[in-house]
Amino acid sequence: MPPNGPPDRVAIDLGDRGYDILIGPGVLGDPASYDGLPRPQSALVVSNPTVSALHGARLRAMLEPRHARVLQVDLPDGEAYKDWSSLNLIFDALLAHECDRRTLVYALGGGVVGDVAGFAAACYMRGVPFVQVPTTLLAQVDSSVGGKTAINHPRGKNMIGAFYQPLRVLADLDVLDTLPDRELSAGLAEVIKYGPIADAAFLDWVEAHLDALLARGKPALAHAVRRSCEIKAWVVGQDERESGLRAILNYGHTFGHAIEAGLGYGQWLHGEAVGCGMVMAADLSARLGLVPAAFVERMRRLVVRARLPVAAPAAIGADRFVDLMRVDKKAEGGQTRFVLIEGVGHAVQRVVPEALVRETIAACSG
Ligand code: NAD
Ligand code: GLY
Repeated sequence: MPPNGPPDRVAIDLGDRGYDILIGPGVLGDPASYDGLPRPQSALVVSNPTVSALHGARLRAMLEPRHARVLQVDLPDGEAYKDWSSLNLIFDALLAHECDRRTLVYALGGGVVGDVAGFAAACYMRGVPFVQVPTTLLAQVDSSVGGKTAINHPRGKNMIGAFYQPLRVLADLDVLDTLPDRELSAGLAEVIKYGPIADAAFLDWVEAHLDALLARGKPALAHAVRRSCEIKAWVVGQDERESGLRAILNYGHTFGHAIEAGLGYGQWLHGEAVGCGMVMAADLSARLGLVPAAFVERMRRLVVRARLPVAAPAAIGADRFVDLMRVDKKAEGGQTRFVLIEGVGHAVQRVVPEALVRETIAACSG
């Protein structure tokens, strides 16, 4: 097989907290991907048993020549474990091995591992450096980029966390070969999101290349990951701590988080809830006259083609759905703010009359 060319590089422009995302096949096993990263005595790989078994050896082989000790902690696998007990497993490992504040943490896994490991890195000794090595499509296009780290609380998703940027993101497209189909689709939800909020031409591109993405074609995946990261970099570079613009990245997430919490974390995948949530947010946008009804159908068709659910579980019930959305981090003074589409490629945030929200829940549940 011919060697891979140089990876794509997307820069996150945040001054002295800025960093690069390296994207391409073979990034994980290429020594050049690690050039310039610190080489303290200890590195700690945070992963889970599923990902460790598949890809852990390749990361360790790259780290062992760089560090005197390469430690490892595997968290239990799943959204249900994005909690205090997993966070403590990381602190326990760091303390048991007397790791100092130069220790470099590598988060090898999907969004759950990345969010928990990033939060642990933000907290341990008030901050140790970390590198994101995202292994799901969702993590490559979204969660590993931008510095949001968190664990869940039973009353709300991602409610306990910190903004803490990694030193680098290593997005190896080859690791996606082992991803289950359901997880690939969940990642596509976050890819789909970037078009309606910021780039109408990218939405056209995703519609035209969805079959290639589902078939895991490398050129299509490379473009999807790169363009998603470029759009996320553009947003995060202007509003790192979500005082305004960054909230547009949560298109579909207000409805989606309520579905996840309402059903119990881990029942629907995050990306599945976001897929359905985007259709609901499109429906709400149409009810407010911000987009034509045809846009709702366009979103629904695309989400269905991506093999994601489009009907919210009726079992949650409208009252509980509305209550759950009040816990959303975008809520202010008990009022839920929704990310809505105002013409394809442009998102806005609005507080919406509850009666309209209930109409959307009724129309989009099944
Ligand atoms: P995940 O981390 O649970 O990973 C999904 C599943 O795929 C897991 O079972 C995992 O073990 C497995 N897996 C991972 N990589 C694999 C591979 N290469 N081959 C085979 N199996 C593999 O889920 P996710 O979808 O990656 O992430 C969802 C999480 O990300 C949620 O908690 C969500 O809140 C969070 N998130 C965070 C941000 C952010 O900005 N920080 C953004 C979006 C989502
Ligand atoms: N995934 C939303 C954000 O990073 O802001």
